[in-house]
Amino acid sequence: MRTSPEAAGWPAAGRSGDPSHVVFSAEEIAARVGELGAEIGRHYQESSGLLVLGLLKGSFIFLADLVRALRLPLQVDFFIASSYGASRVSSGKVRFLYEPEVDLRGRDVLIVEDIVDSGATLDLLIHTLEAKGPKSLELCALLHKRAVTVVKEPRWVGFEAPPQFLVGYGLDYAEEFRHLPYIGSL
Ligand code: IMP
Ligand code: MG
Repeated sequence: MRTSPEAAGWPAAGRSGDPSHVVFSAEEIAARVGELGAEIGRHYQESSGLLVLGLLKGSFIFLADLVRALRLPLQVDFFIASSYGASRVSSGKVRFLYEPEVDLRGRDVLIVEDIVDSGATLDLLIHTLEAKGPKSLELCALLHKRAVTVVKEPRWVGFEAPPQFLVGYGLDYAEEFRHLPYIGSL
């Protein structure tokens, strides 16, 4: 079932450390994003103004695909959090480098996240956003490692992640591999 990057139509970069396996192919991701778009669209069909907040940088490709699968009036903004640095293990220390200044009172807010691991990033984000009084606050994560019990579980999850370090489709290792069209494991 697992294929090499070359078999998925992606030339091997020829460097050691590149992904050795395709975990979710570009086609599998596209199909799942379409399903998520339909489900999330149904959930918010009565909403008068959805605010989609992408957690950068990891969510940038997923967010771009997901909002184009949502046939709803919506606005997009971003959070930039910093946690991992150049490590494969979560430091547990999170800080925000950018947060949107829009008024969240009375808004339906959907946070879009690349992957839930320790949940530290999401915990801080939830606390920060709930204090701003949105009408509703939900999470959509592309991947979930189910490593810990998080304070607020995502309402929508793209894929259950294997217990490996994943890269591609926005996910990085030391800022590399974000541009891969598939999700691979190192
Ligand atoms: P958490 O705060 O420990 O849940 O970590 C969340 C963030 O860590 C994610 O938004 C990712 O940027 C990063 N992360 C966690 N697991 C992985 C992985 O397997 N590959 C790449 N980045 C990861
Ligand atoms: Mg990262």
